[in-house]
Amino acid sequence: MEKRTEYIDRRPISFLDLLVSRSPMPEKFFWARLAYQLTVIVTQACNMQCTYCYDKSRNEKEIVKSELSSEEIIKIIQEARSVGVRQIKLTGGEVFVKRGIKKILEACQGIALYLCTNGKLLGEWIPFLSRMNFEQLHIHTSLDGLDSHLKYSVNGISHEKLLEKMRMAKEVIKGVHTSVNTVLNKDNIAELSAMYSQLVAADIDKWTVSMPYIVSEIVRNNHPFPAFDDFASASAELLSVHFGVKEGSYAIYGFK
Ligand SMILES: C[S@@+](CC[C@H](N)C(=O)[O-])C[C@H]1O[C@@H](n2cnc3c(N)ncnc32)[C@H](O)[C@@H]1O
Repeated sequence: MEKRTEYIDRRPISFLDLLVSRSPMPEKFFWARLAYQLTVIVTQACNMQCTYCYDKSRNEKEIVKSELSSEEIIKIIQEARSVGVRQIKLTGGEVFVKRGIKKILEACQGIALYLCTNGKLLGEWIPFLSRMNFEQLHIHTSLDGLDSHLKYSVNGISHEKLLEKMRMAKEVIKGVHTSVNTVLNKDNIAELSAMYSQLVAADIDKWTVSMPYIVSEIVRNNHPFPAFDDFASASAELLSVHFGVKEGSYAIYGFK
């Protein structure tokens, strides 16, 4: 029997892949999509401990020691690039506490980089990032409210400081895209409208607001979910602010 030298996984990964696999040129598009992005969790260690986090911060020395080293990560990135990966997403834990992160970032030059951070150390890295030569840089951060942001993490950063750093990144790093993710809780639901204005003022390009995934930390910390009615009216208010919908005209969607 002929020895198999490579393993090719032809299972579709999404509904879109299923559709593409039925197109007249399935190979072309199917593989282009599969090969496009690589996500690397560079470490599970984090300098913040969010009470709802799915990636429970693993600061235990033994666990961190058994993670891939930055040299091993760079090797994976180089191999991924050699087979056509054009975008790398680096996340954690917290990327900026990873030993050797500077070299990992350098290995991503020339392609698109999607960087997820809690923002605590971002200020120190802005000058370095501005000197890098990425095809595109996207900085993504987490902001879970205004005053309530600090309530949902240990060692957190205030919303003022975080947004100031994100605004500074926009000013200093040419062409950078920025985004914010907000995980809903009972407190931040009332702050969403005020957050909207502050995110616009900080020149944030994209905002995602989501219900938390039900993970062990959510259960352990008894995460306070917002009431459905509060979620519905907050969503209606945001839509109304963003699209300039007049009072009452969203009643047809059942929000009010
Ligand atoms: C695990 S964090 C790691 C990156 C970085 N340290 C940060 O704070 O953005 C990545 C993203 O996952 C989101 N996240 C964490 N736990 C979640 C949960 N239980 N449900 C939904 N999103 C969650 C965070 O809001 C954050 O935007």
